[in-house]
Amino acid sequence: MAANTQDRKNFSRYCGYHQNWEGEPLRDLAETDSGTLSGELLRRYWHPVHIASEIGARPKLIKVLGEELVLFKDQSGAYGLVHKKCPHRRASLEYGRCEAHGIRCCYHGWVFDIDGTILEIPGEPDGSPHVQHAQEQIRLGAYPVKEFKGLLFAYLGPFEHQPPFPIYDSYGISEMVMTPYAVPFNCNWIQVLDAIVDPVHTAFLHQSQFSDGFGKLGEIEFYQRDKIRFLGTASRRIGDNIWVRVNELILPNFTQAGSAFACDGTASRYFGRSAFTRWVVPLDDQHCIAYAWGNFGERGDPDEYNTVEGMQKIEQGEILGRSYEERQRHPGDVEAVEGMGLISDHEREYLVPGDRGVTLYRRQMQQLARNLQKGQPPPQPTDLASSVIPTYGSDTVLYRPLQSVTDDHGLLRDTGTKVMDILFDSDNDPAPKRDERIINKLKKLG
Ligand code: FES
Ligand SMILES: [Fe+2]
Repeated sequence: MAANTQDRKNFSRYCGYHQNWEGEPLRDLAETDSGTLSGELLRRYWHPVHIASEIGARPKLIKVLGEELVLFKDQSGAYGLVHKKCPHRRASLEYGRCEAHGIRCCYHGWVFDIDGTILEIPGEPDGSPHVQHAQEQIRLGAYPVKEFKGLLFAYLGPFEHQPPFPIYDSYGISEMVMTPYAVPFNCNWIQVLDAIVDPVHTAFLHQSQFSDGFGKLGEIEFYQRDKIRFLGTASRRIGDNIWVRVNELILPNFTQAGSAFACDGTASRYFGRSAFTRWVVPLDDQHCIAYAWGNFGERGDPDEYNTVEGMQKIEQGEILGRSYEERQRHPGDVEAVEGMGLISDHEREYLVPGDRGVTLYRRQMQQLARNLQKGQPPPQPTDLASSVIPTYGSDTVLYRPLQSVTDDHGLLRDTGTKVMDILFDSDNDPAPKRDERIINKLKKLG
């Protein structure tokens, strides 16, 4: 009930002076450096670290998981990701030169292969014991890099624990055009990741950006599948239809959802796929980048959004680089999550049932990090399937006219459950057979 004028004059309720809202971040989730709990967990997975087409003839200094690294493509076309400082006298390899094989340091010309092996020490006589000794004993720190569909992925963990590179079913959807994008956030990665399992925020932050349907809260449900997969569904009434939208997180940072612009709930849609296939990658504790492909075509978002600005809208609702006034009038995800500060003081959050997705995944990630510290290797996405990994981020819109106003909540919940049962039932079908099976079953439902 709204407070009346008398209540509002009850000045004894002002508590600004007495209330201390300063708190600590959840460090076991937020920290990314080597040696920290979550930093070590993150180092056991492959992460995208750059858009391949943006790496030219010169090396590039980048930051990943708190490490300053140099990314380069040698003249043979092989990618290297190496420690910034040369093991000789610590010059930065960002000023080095890409060679036929490897990178040459600018200071004394030592050449390193992409795996960190010393190939040349040109200032010393060939075959001298010093050269031989250095080549046997010294290596430049290096990490494996894999180019895939225009994104460069790297693995920064112990080489002996390198996991298989996961292949998700979203990579093979027929006629889908996948365009790499990168959107930077000036805040801790957990702040950005949280939003994928927070279907409530779309009703408030994104209503005017995507479609009116996003403004409906609908019936929200959360699922934890396996040890690393979390789903949040929103089932909304749009006229005579029910729109079931599925958001997806595979730990530690793989995310998908439904479309941003192709679906507004007004027309039938059967297992329409995600507008993005995306990872939230920490640069350090206070900065991260959402690396992704925007997915365009019949089952993704419309081709007209396949532009830099279009993908910024898909990623966070609005374009980047707007004036402060514009950002205040129409905030997107960047404003919501950067406004929390460089690292949010999670300790002072007041979580409610709508935040259950956030609570579930954070708790599991903290557990996996503690298990790793005790020596238990973390589960991998490749454990989820014997080959291609099935994913769930999607939109389904079924014809379900309102039966009674009082029980529409039940109908929404029931429809959401039926759609999810169909998605889960087809887990063992290999792609693309799984999609066909899901679509046929959904058509029979709707
Ligand atoms: S510092 Fe790199 S070769 Fe000397
Ligand atoms: Fe959002």
